[in-house]
Amino acid sequence: MFQVLDFYKTANGKKVVMAITGLIGFGFVLIHMLGNLQVFVGQEKLDDYAKLLKSSMPILWGARLTLIGAVVLHVVASWQLAGQSEDARPVPYQKKLQKRKSTFASHSMRWTGPLLLMFIIYHLLHFTIGWKTLNLPFIEGAVYSNVVNGFKLWPVAAFYILCMLALSQHLYHGIWSLFQTLGVNHPRYNGLIRAVAALGTAVVVIGNISIPVAILAGYIK
Ligand code: HEM
Repeated sequence: MFQVLDFYKTANGKKVVMAITGLIGFGFVLIHMLGNLQVFVGQEKLDDYAKLLKSSMPILWGARLTLIGAVVLHVVASWQLAGQSEDARPVPYQKKLQKRKSTFASHSMRWTGPLLLMFIIYHLLHFTIGWKTLNLPFIEGAVYSNVVNGFKLWPVAAFYILCMLALSQHLYHGIWSLFQTLGVNHPRYNGLIRAVAALGTAVVVIGNISIPVAILAGYIK
């Protein structure tokens, strides 16, 4: 136990925690997106699927607590890592050199992370809790009509699409970093790693964006 805590204190330990919790998050968004695509099949299919997910409270809460734990650990480790690298800040000349190597996606992790956290809170209030203050259409258990009536409002659909674009930056850099943490970092494989990161990101993000777009376009009613 103490060995695990000692390892966590190192920058590598925190990166491993970020990699594992990030992978849990990626698995969730992928499965969640595939489930949500049933909106294209029809009302009954999506509502039945949602009912099935809630049919066993121990499984539902087990998954929810795992997810909450993963998000909390991911955020805490990222704050601590940022704090550590700030403490070990290099001299200005070296900083300039480092900056040139960073991509837009890696640089944007500082704002896509907090934006996605805000998105998750809004999303839960919108579709899971049905918070009245948001003044959005919500009927407990009527998942299909909640999704369709929510995305018919273009500011809501636009906000989701914007957040999915932020998710694309976060996922792309996150998957890339995961391989670096695992030690898979060789010029021969870097092109392949970028392709895997781009494919994983595209599947999740295009799948998610297709839902508000199809509703706004009147394809799903
Ligand atoms: C356009 C894309 C998305 C749509 C249409 C969508 C739709 C929904 C709906 C309808 C629910 C409520 C399900 C129910 O009550 O049975 C839900 C729950 C949830 N969504 Fe999404 N979602 C999207 C994207 C995302 C993303 C990107 C994330 C994470 C970053 C996310 C995280 C969650 C979480 C954590 C829950 C709560 C699950 C639970 O009840 O424990 N969703 N989503």
